[in-house]
Amino acid sequence: MAAHDISLTVNGTEHRLTVEPRTLLLTVLREELGYTGANFGCDTGRCGACTVRLDGEAIKSCLRFAVQADGAEVETVEGLAPEGELTPLQEQFREHHGLQCGYCTPGMVMTADTYLRDAEAPTREEIREAIEGNLCRCTGYHNIVDAIEATAAKRGEER
Ligand code: FES
Ligand code: FES
Repeated sequence: MAAHDISLTVNGTEHRLTVEPRTLLLTVLREELGYTGANFGCDTGRCGACTVRLDGEAIKSCLRFAVQADGAEVETVEGLAPEGELTPLQEQFREHHGLQCGYCTPGMVMTADTYLRDAEAPTREEIREAIEGNLCRCTGYHNIVDAIEATAAKRGEER
């Protein structure tokens, strides 16, 4: 199969790569570029562990071929805060014990971070709906919802 030359801008850095047509965006991010925040979980679009932003939209990177992302801006969890720092949402995940093994956390954070951009004062039900495509095997979701709710509330206070 003919390989393709593509360009991906990840967290502000442009990368030029040659990929097979069947190579997943997730594979390129993790194995070629070293952005290992996005995780392989189900590989079938069900768990959300691989969630990244593609041109501003939270997507499951196991469902995109890398060639489909040619020319796109990709954001991974590594790009949310400067090295050694946490975003307000990540702080709240820590405060509310919103993670245990942490496997789902990068994807959960990318989904929630994207959701919170437009959600003014979401209810718990709305938050649950927003993260329904991200599965967690550890927490029971309660603490995750607490963390997202607290982030939205804090942001509301600061406005
Ligand atoms: S690994 Fe992509 S949705 Fe599960
Ligand atoms: S914290 Fe373990 S899967 Fe979510």
